[in-house]
Amino acid sequence: MAMIAFKCPKIEVVVVDIAVARINAWNSDRLPIFEPGLDEVVKACRGRNLFFSADVEKHVAEADIVFVSVNTPTKTRGLGAGKAADLTYWESAARMIADVSKSDKIVVEKSTVPVKTAEAIEKILTHNNKGINFQILSNPEFLAEGTAMEDLAKPDRVLIGGRETPEGRKAVETLKAVYAHWVPEDQIITMNLWSAELSKLAANAILAQRISSVNAMSALCEATGADVAEVAYAVGKDSRIGPKFLNASVGFGGSCFQKDILNLVYICECNGLTEVANYWKQVVQINDYQKSRFVKRVVSSMFNTVSGKKIAILGFAFKKDTGDTRETAAIDVCHGLLGDKAQLSVYDPQVTADQIMRDLAMNKFDWDHPQHLQPMSPTTTKQVDVVWDAYEATKNAHGVCILTEWDEFKKLDYKRIYDGMQKPAFIFDGRNVINVEELRKIGFIVYSVGKPL
Ligand code: UGA
Repeated sequence: MAMIAFKCPKIEVVVVDIAVARINAWNSDRLPIFEPGLDEVVKACRGRNLFFSADVEKHVAEADIVFVSVNTPTKTRGLGAGKAADLTYWESAARMIADVSKSDKIVVEKSTVPVKTAEAIEKILTHNNKGINFQILSNPEFLAEGTAMEDLAKPDRVLIGGRETPEGRKAVETLKAVYAHWVPEDQIITMNLWSAELSKLAANAILAQRISSVNAMSALCEATGADVAEVAYAVGKDSRIGPKFLNASVGFGGSCFQKDILNLVYICECNGLTEVANYWKQVVQINDYQKSRFVKRVVSSMFNTVSGKKIAILGFAFKKDTGDTRETAAIDVCHGLLGDKAQLSVYDPQVTADQIMRDLAMNKFDWDHPQHLQPMSPTTTKQVDVVWDAYEATKNAHGVCILTEWDEFKKLDYKRIYDGMQKPAFIFDGRNVINVEELRKIGFIVYSVGKPL
């Protein structure tokens, strides 16, 4: 929304949320999320044509276009638990829009939703039949965290799906005109609603599948002495495959990939497509396998026990340049090591100690359902320490695990780290950011995902 306000000075954008604290943060000097380049854009437009307000109903009533970006977490209970998307927030947003509207509106699905959600939303919007015309559009977002501002400024494509009726086409044109302020028209793709909804799930599933494919290869590389970085380079040189998104890792994280694939699996199952569902399920299973393989490697290398040993965790966010920890591989890896009674010292340049402690206290899928939050057991609290420096985290440690590819981890003084550690000093690189040869020369025992041991 900040980018729309920035690129379209004549359009007034109001971001509304029922969470007053969050709106206050958006109106303050310290924005509630860390995203490179976002501060500048928000500060350039805030108070001009970009506003943040908790007066949800007033602004929705006044708007011509309403983008709905509420969260759609995985259901934790009831039908489809563990797979289906929970549309509770979407439904209540739609009911509120229907109740407060006094004029025609275009309602845009921005959150990722299951296919055919628009149909259900249309029913809710028109349920009290006040003679208001609602056009629902699907406009999925393809930005990635950490590069959001670049992705928004120069998107590969903008996708708009709408009803194939004269009113539907008119609504699509209206939204297209907003993006046309800065996106070349041939990159604004229009299609029917269901194709647009499915395209978003398909894109994320295929991106995640690439990572699981390369991660599966990384296991084979370790077994055979091949180097996954070389294999990925060679494979990516094929112009039909391309070089991006082929970095082997400790596993993908983030709020989207797993959630969207599980949702896709559920939709396939509901449509009786068991084989298709099983195919996509494997992408998540390989990801879980990769995380547990990493933990096993750490424990088995360190003489089959990490009990009472200090292990430094460098990086907790699900990728670099973000403070977001949702579904981060670090949570599962830390749980695995804590299960083996390790003593963890965690450092991440952007994630707060509070967040780390909360994440480690949660069950899978709980991050979007804070009411299920469980207090951290006193033993776990004793086992985890969060520090503000990589050198502090690694002091006296037996091993170091690199779980996020922060640039600063490439430039650390590893000789200094080695000198401060217990010997033999182990380093487990889950992101392939370190120079294996140099570290071995220093004296480290190095494991790097998919590289010869
Ligand atoms: C992802 C998609 O890339 C976006 O296009 C999409 O809009 C977004 O989900 C969404 O649906 O909202 P995001 O989750 O922000 O974006 O970040 P990615 O860059 O896709 O990374 C996801 C995870 O995969 C991270 O944990 C990352 O470290 C991992 N990854 C990525 C790898 O392990 N290897 C790679 O080669 C690339």
